[in-house]
Amino acid sequence: MRQILGIIAFAFAALLFFVESKSTTGFRVLVLLDEENDKNLYTQFFHSLEERDYKLTYNKLSNSVELFSYGERDFDHIIHFAPKSKDKKDTINPISLVNFVNEGGNILLAVSSELSENIRNFAREFDIEFDERDNYVIDHFNYDISDNGNHTLLISKNFVNNEAILGKEVIEGVPVLFRGIGHRVGTVSLLTKILWANDTAYSCDFELMEQEPLAIGNDVGLISAIQARNNARVTFVGSLEFFSDQYSKSGNKALVNDLTKWTFQEKGILRITSRFHHKEGEYEQLEMYRIKDNIIYNIEISEYVNDQWQAFNGEDVQLEIIMLDPHIRINLTALPVLEEHNARKYETLVQLPDVYGVFTFKVNYKRPGYTYIVDTSTVAIRPFKHNEYPRFISAAYPYYTGAASMGVGFLLFCFVWIFNKDNGKLASNKKKTN
Ligand SMILES: *[C@@H]1O[C@H](CO)[C@@H](O)[C@H](O)[C@H]1NC(C)=O
Ligand SMILES: *[C@@H]1O[C@H](CO)[C@@H](O)[C@H](O)[C@H]1NC(C)=O
Ligand SMILES: *[C@@H]1O[C@H](CO)[C@@H](O)[C@H](O)[C@H]1NC(C)=O
Repeated sequence: MRQILGIIAFAFAALLFFVESKSTTGFRVLVLLDEENDKNLYTQFFHSLEERDYKLTYNKLSNSVELFSYGERDFDHIIHFAPKSKDKKDTINPISLVNFVNEGGNILLAVSSELSENIRNFAREFDIEFDERDNYVIDHFNYDISDNGNHTLLISKNFVNNEAILGKEVIEGVPVLFRGIGHRVGTVSLLTKILWANDTAYSCDFELMEQEPLAIGNDVGLISAIQARNNARVTFVGSLEFFSDQYSKSGNKALVNDLTKWTFQEKGILRITSRFHHKEGEYEQLEMYRIKDNIIYNIEISEYVNDQWQAFNGEDVQLEIIMLDPHIRINLTALPVLEEHNARKYETLVQLPDVYGVFTFKVNYKRPGYTYIVDTSTVAIRPFKHNEYPRFISAAYPYYTGAASMGVGFLLFCFVWIFNKDNGKLASNKKKTN
């Protein structure tokens, strides 16, 4: 009996492990909807998530739900498909959502043209400005044939060319359909535009056409994302229909797939597996080196791809040797990956600066789409010991020559003096005899 229980427990643990294995941060998803029935509009989307082992909890936004219990997140990700809800007393409000992101939670937020001020305020926290209520992105040149005459059903192929976020098939694939509201992307450097409108688009209210458009042409953002400094990801999509079953025949399905993978931390994840530095010719990591020592520094980085850790193939990793400011910034060479090794080693040989003090070896790798990795190790760099200086320095040859010539001169002088004295005695003797 006990054995059977053990097996069951093991199977359960294995299942849990399996369930947790897709996203690097967790599988608990909270889905927020305006109306409970709305989930029937996105069945294919939700089904694809369930296939990827996410556990979805549906909740009508107006029903209260706690994001935290005892200070811990109750969910790893939020899908926010409830743009309409206006209630100020909602437990899910811009502040609680920002707290959720601060605690490392990821959010996929999709809005429609009827978006509430709450959503707009939340987006503003990330320097994203959605257009006015009831406005649409309009393009009279690039619309789908199934458009109803308002030219709001756009087709766009302006994807970000970043394979950490979107796969190659999406970037080179078919255009996607989009009907919804545009946004303007601010200047925060953590923001990435993922999909934007064509040159001929503008964001406006198609009945009034009175006010200035919020943005025109390529500045109209359709999908944008931010990766916060704590690596939490928030993705803003200006169209709810984008996820609907109707649109899944065009390129949307593949894009949505990559978008959720990226947002929920299944893609573009880096980690450092080891770091080591030692003197050239020695194989021990020290805490103190001498100025001008030759150091070999290496670091191993792996990337999470298709649910497993693989060698990262970036080529632009750099090492900084810092005391207040970087004294040296040097490229690390990517070494070939050994078989069955799930990390790539980056290495360099560097001569330490001719300055002593406490230095930091820092690898600070921040690239759009990838999680930010920072690794620091502190070492002391000491000056030469007295017995480490070279015995004879070429620059001192004049002084050596000076000292030697002094000695030789002194000897010569003594020599001459002795003989002169004798002669002088003789002379004085002579004088006396005279
Ligand atoms: C254009 O949009 C307006 C507002 O949504 C709608 O009333 C109208 O029927 C649409 N035009 C067509 C041709 O469907
Ligand atoms: C805009 O759309 C046209 C027609 O679909 C396309 O040829 C053009 O490359 C697009 N422009 C941009 C900047 O994507
Ligand atoms: C270091 O790498 C960057 C980016 O890969 C490159 O632009 C730069 O020229 C490299 N510097 C040196 C000294 O090789």
